[in-house]
Amino acid sequence: MSRKRILTGDRPTGPLHLGHYVGSVANRARLQDEFETFVIIADAQALTTNFDRPERLAEDVLNVAMDNLACGVDPQKSVLFVQSLVPAIAELTVFYANLVTVNQLFHNPTIKTEAAQHNFEESMPFGFLGYPVSQAADITFCRANLVPVGEDQLPHIEMTRKIVRKFNSLYAPVLVEPEARVSEVSRLPGLDGGAKMSKSLGNAIYLSDPPDVVKQKVARAVTDPARIHPTDKGHPEICTVFAWHRAFNRAESDDIGERCRAGTIGCVPCKARLVAVLNEFLEPIRARRAGYEQDPDLVRDILSTGTARARHEGDRTMALVRAAMKIDYFPPPAPAATAGN
Ligand code: TRP
Repeated sequence: MSRKRILTGDRPTGPLHLGHYVGSVANRARLQDEFETFVIIADAQALTTNFDRPERLAEDVLNVAMDNLACGVDPQKSVLFVQSLVPAIAELTVFYANLVTVNQLFHNPTIKTEAAQHNFEESMPFGFLGYPVSQAADITFCRANLVPVGEDQLPHIEMTRKIVRKFNSLYAPVLVEPEARVSEVSRLPGLDGGAKMSKSLGNAIYLSDPPDVVKQKVARAVTDPARIHPTDKGHPEICTVFAWHRAFNRAESDDIGERCRAGTIGCVPCKARLVAVLNEFLEPIRARRAGYEQDPDLVRDILSTGTARARHEGDRTMALVRAAMKIDYFPPPAPAATAGN
């Protein structure tokens, strides 16, 4: 039996940050040995909020590819590809659009949050409202079984599952119903203490940030506002810096939490320890990334090979989908009968 498949990925709206790493990139690098892994660089989805500046995509696509490679996504094991170059994704989106209602999309909590961030509440672009439909196509074009994502993506996976069930029961059971896999730490707070690290909120530490930038950013990270003096008793459960210790410094985090609570470690040494831990973690990623930065043609080659592979999978799925819908108007001739028949 063939291995189960993963599909996951990111919007190229800038380089990837620590939130992407703990939310899904680490998981995909870990799972690629066990599963056949497809990593999508969702450039068409990025356009749903950045349609006024398509010229940035070429660089951002390359950046996201390099971040994935630097984090250990191995092109020998995983298919790294560009969404807009896989026609099956656009084609499936058109067919799936008939299987969801506008109301379902308006009620999607992730759409609501993002619409507010982009001031789309009054006037919502059709492409933005519909991107979860296109994301269902991202996941199903390669018949993925598993989707490792951060928890903000769960409404989209739920919608994908609904679309698949509806398609399979209306036409024929050719699509695979995927399951989400949320990582242990699925949401990292931002520097500003906000619920989520995000590029658009300007509160992120990037995988490509040099050591001194990491240091400056951690220095200005919001901590427990009740702590004025290092001996004040702290509340690690509401502290951004503590959440990052939890995610990147598991071994010491219990101890740091206790000392914070007891008022025996101040925010300054707590932050200094985090900076050391983060820089140690980021060092090999920076080194691998630097190698790819010096050879962008290699990265383009990896992407173009992966994209060709994804197109091939997409063509196979489209044949099944068109047959299921009975719209395969010009099917290829049946293979010639063997001699004597
Ligand atoms: N919506 C995802 C994000 O914003 C990116 C994405 C696009 C994705 N297509 C996907 C994630 C398919 C998982 C599966 O991060």
